[in-house]
Amino acid sequence: MGIRLGDEAPNFTADTTEGTIDFHEWKAGSWAVLFSHPADFTPVCTTELGRTAELNAEFAKRNTKTIAVSVDPLESHKGWAGDIKDVGGTDLNFPIIADESRNVAHLYDMIHPGEGDTSTVRSVFIIDPNNKVRLTLTYPKSVGRNFDEILRVIDALQLTDSAPVSTPADWTPGERVIVSPAMSTEDAKVRFGEVDEVKPYLRWTAQPKG
Ligand code: BEZ
Repeated sequence: MGIRLGDEAPNFTADTTEGTIDFHEWKAGSWAVLFSHPADFTPVCTTELGRTAELNAEFAKRNTKTIAVSVDPLESHKGWAGDIKDVGGTDLNFPIIADESRNVAHLYDMIHPGEGDTSTVRSVFIIDPNNKVRLTLTYPKSVGRNFDEILRVIDALQLTDSAPVSTPADWTPGERVIVSPAMSTEDAKVRFGEVDEVKPYLRWTAQPKG
């Protein structure tokens, strides 16, 4: 069975472009984005890893580390790093796991036989500081991911962990949010100030300050 939201993210030891790591030790105290790609020296993957490198400071602001995985060997990853910089404009600044044994791929169910071969599809796992899986995404090999969306989701997860609110469709940071159904409108007014009750179950309020 695949990994479900709320599961503990499986731990592993793996060789990466930044040395051998124990995953839980490597991410200790941080959020992590663990994401797989099908193969090195391929066009979509090169743009994805370049974009992740470019967004490194944005992930760091959110106490989030990124780590990529594919079943290609370490020497291949190291050789590819120059292309990632050429295409994306930023040095590779996060580790890529060399998962030749497919240990990580199997632990996280990243190989989908219907997608053509024995390489990983484009999986994303957002994992919190307590090592709980908080979001999963799976994209086919032909479609590159939107890394701004990954940042947006981290913002939403961190916000909804900090206050009894949810984020509506297409929310972006700074926009109004929804009061948790578990909170009465009276209590919400005490906690948040202004509350706009559109339906008994849909109450808007300004995004709480962090
Ligand atoms: C790519 O990164 O461009 C790619 C890799 C594997 C299959 C299809 C596309």
